[in-house]
Amino acid sequence: MTVTITHEGTIAVVTIDNPPVNALSQALRQELMEVVSTLEADATVSAVVLACAGRTFIAGADVNEFGKPPVPPHLPEVVASIENAKKPWIAAIHGSALGGGLEVALGCAYRVAAASASLGLPEVKLGIVPGAGGTVRLPRLIGVPAAVDMITGGSAIGAGKAKGLGLVDAVVERDLLSAAVAFAQEASQRPRPQPLSERSIPMVDDVFWSHTEKAVAAKARGEVAPLRALACIRMASEADFFTATAFERETFLDLRGSVQAAALRHVFFAERAASRPPELAGVAPRDIHSAAVIGGGTMGAGIVAALRDAGLPVVLVERDPAAVERGLANVGQIFEGSVKRGRITADVAAKRMSGVIGTADYGALADTDLVIEAVFEDLTVKRAVFAQLSKACRADAILATNTSYLDPDEIGEGLAQPERFIGLHFFSPAHVMKLLEIVPTGTTSPDVLATGFALARLLGKIPVRAGICDGFIGNRILKVTRVQAERLLLSGATPTAVDGAMRAFGLPMGPFEAQDLGGLDIAAFQRKAARERGEMPFAPVGDRLVSIGRIGQKSNGGWYDYQLDDRRPRPSHTVAAVIAEAAAGRSQQAWDKTAIADAIILPMVNEATRILEEGIALRAVDVDLVKIHGYGFPRWRGGLLHYASVRGLSEIVAVLDRLASKGLADPACDGLRLAARLGRFATPASSVG
Ligand code: 3HC
Ligand code: NAI
Repeated sequence: MTVTITHEGTIAVVTIDNPPVNALSQALRQELMEVVSTLEADATVSAVVLACAGRTFIAGADVNEFGKPPVPPHLPEVVASIENAKKPWIAAIHGSALGGGLEVALGCAYRVAAASASLGLPEVKLGIVPGAGGTVRLPRLIGVPAAVDMITGGSAIGAGKAKGLGLVDAVVERDLLSAAVAFAQEASQRPRPQPLSERSIPMVDDVFWSHTEKAVAAKARGEVAPLRALACIRMASEADFFTATAFERETFLDLRGSVQAAALRHVFFAERAASRPPELAGVAPRDIHSAAVIGGGTMGAGIVAALRDAGLPVVLVERDPAAVERGLANVGQIFEGSVKRGRITADVAAKRMSGVIGTADYGALADTDLVIEAVFEDLTVKRAVFAQLSKACRADAILATNTSYLDPDEIGEGLAQPERFIGLHFFSPAHVMKLLEIVPTGTTSPDVLATGFALARLLGKIPVRAGICDGFIGNRILKVTRVQAERLLLSGATPTAVDGAMRAFGLPMGPFEAQDLGGLDIAAFQRKAARERGEMPFAPVGDRLVSIGRIGQKSNGGWYDYQLDDRRPRPSHTVAAVIAEAAAGRSQQAWDKTAIADAIILPMVNEATRILEEGIALRAVDVDLVKIHGYGFPRWRGGLLHYASVRGLSEIVAVLDRLASKGLADPACDGLRLAARLGRFATPASSVG
């Protein structure tokens, strides 16, 4: 039984128990309809408390049903039947009341929430709009501007904020259920509040709408759901309840079957599956209760902050006392930044900082469970660090390297107990970026690998297993992005056009703007190392810019010019001249946005296919997660290879071959041609089953 009814005097307590998150499956909707009728007919009941068992209140509609035709009873009917009941229903909210869950709560006469609860309408994150009256009832309760924020942004708010907005009637510190029953007893003595469907909506003027439409469109970057949700709220504010709910439902059903919604659902399930790869099922991770980071520079400090945010005590090891101070200051700055942005209080920041011990003495690591190395990207320096760790740490302590481009197998050579050595590749800033590439070496044991995934879960990161090659999954694809971007410059496109096209595709930034922000010197350094290895990296313009000191915003100019205290990129005559010189003798063509995006994205697909063929990534979805969480690839496109599948693999092969015939890309690789014939990517994981 998913729904049970118990009685506390005249109060009926309806408890939903539909693990894992009490999602509103068809069966649950049916049961709720029946329960409403039963309780309406029960003369001994004066009010109803709606509560949930398990970790959360109703977390929304059942996302698994979205790919299938909707089956009645539909959620709007369930919400309406609760709202129209003669007896007041009181939602007792713990965990999260999300999407359809919050819509059910809005059908209730009152909402009582645990202090730790959160409430939200995250539908836009799944490419849809609320489908059971959320856009129509919420603005009637909390006003249009607050409803616009919650619905178009999709982020949940805490119970305290919800109380301030009038979304919940009471916040409960302790026993939620008994407080909700007491609230219900009192409420049953009072006249019912007017149902939200009968309330008027506070007016807002046209200026509000035009301003908000612009702001939402700018933030959505090609994602359609936020603007469609805004249109629903606008309809709610301008038309009657029934017209607005019909409009909302129509929009919901339209988007539910859309390509963007399918892509976002793909990402939703991929993210949840990421930390439990099937090949590690049953492998117990090692316990991690303490951690250390070697090197307190950009990455080390960020990793320390991420570990502290997750509650682990951390030792930070640097080269000498002065470097220890600098490292600790770097960590301190990160926490101060979080305080400034309102993410944590000053007290919390102080507590996090007090859990970091800075030292230059490896002796402090004698009892540490996990050590992450983030020193200079230099094989000799890293090997020396691991030689010291070999001596200083317990034999079962996990030792990890955060190297970006070096071969972890070479770094770990000669290490005592090499089965405990692994690559953990964080992305900058490490306390913010969600991606963690987990790189097993030839000797890493399964339980150490499993610990990498468990660590990611603890840190709230998305783990992706990557094999060893130059750049692992993400940076290897990034190299192709950059090469293609330069090829475009040599054949008639400008940095402004390339960056604009990639933003139009949905990226937060184009490749040239991004390099100016991070600095051109890092990639130049890697190219130098590659040349020393006998490779021939292609970056004629980038190399020339670095040679004349244009390494990005930090040098006041890179691919663009910058003015003092103004980070807006301006086209540069110097760069145009360098491009013209490098392009001399090459054939030029006109590039529109779509052609530019194709010339960059499709070669990335080609490279990702090779990465799959070589087993560097085990699944196409892993590439999707890497691109979304490490490089800002638009989530609503589902990631690089989901996009490729939707776009059509045969078409991609044809475009690549056309580009290749002009020397503008590599031809499609065999794996991509095979995938085009099969209609899917053949991956090591899929052949394993
Ligand atoms: N439908 C189906 N399954 C769901 C689900 C949903 N709405 N929400 C979560 N799940 C599943 C997950 O896939 C996962 O399954 P798995 O264990 O088999 O992988 C399991 O529940 C646990 O999920 P999490 O790992 O995310 O658990 P957490 O405890 O970390 O988080 C949560 C719980 C905050 C509820 C989080 O799961 C979440 O944010 N869920 C999505 C909620 C959502 O988007 N709701 C809106 C749905 S759309 C809607 O309601 C339309 C309506 O307007 C008509
Ligand atoms: P950084 O130069 O900012 O910091 C390196 C730190 O290591 C310095 O503080 C230095 O004092 C310290 N250090 C050097 N030798 C040491 C030793 N023997 N013992 C203790 N500390 C020592 O470098 P950054 O950018 O933090 O990079 C660190 C590592 O992370 C590199 O391997 C890099 O490739 C990798 N990485 C960098 C990313 C980035 O975006 N910067 C992204 C992902 C990985």
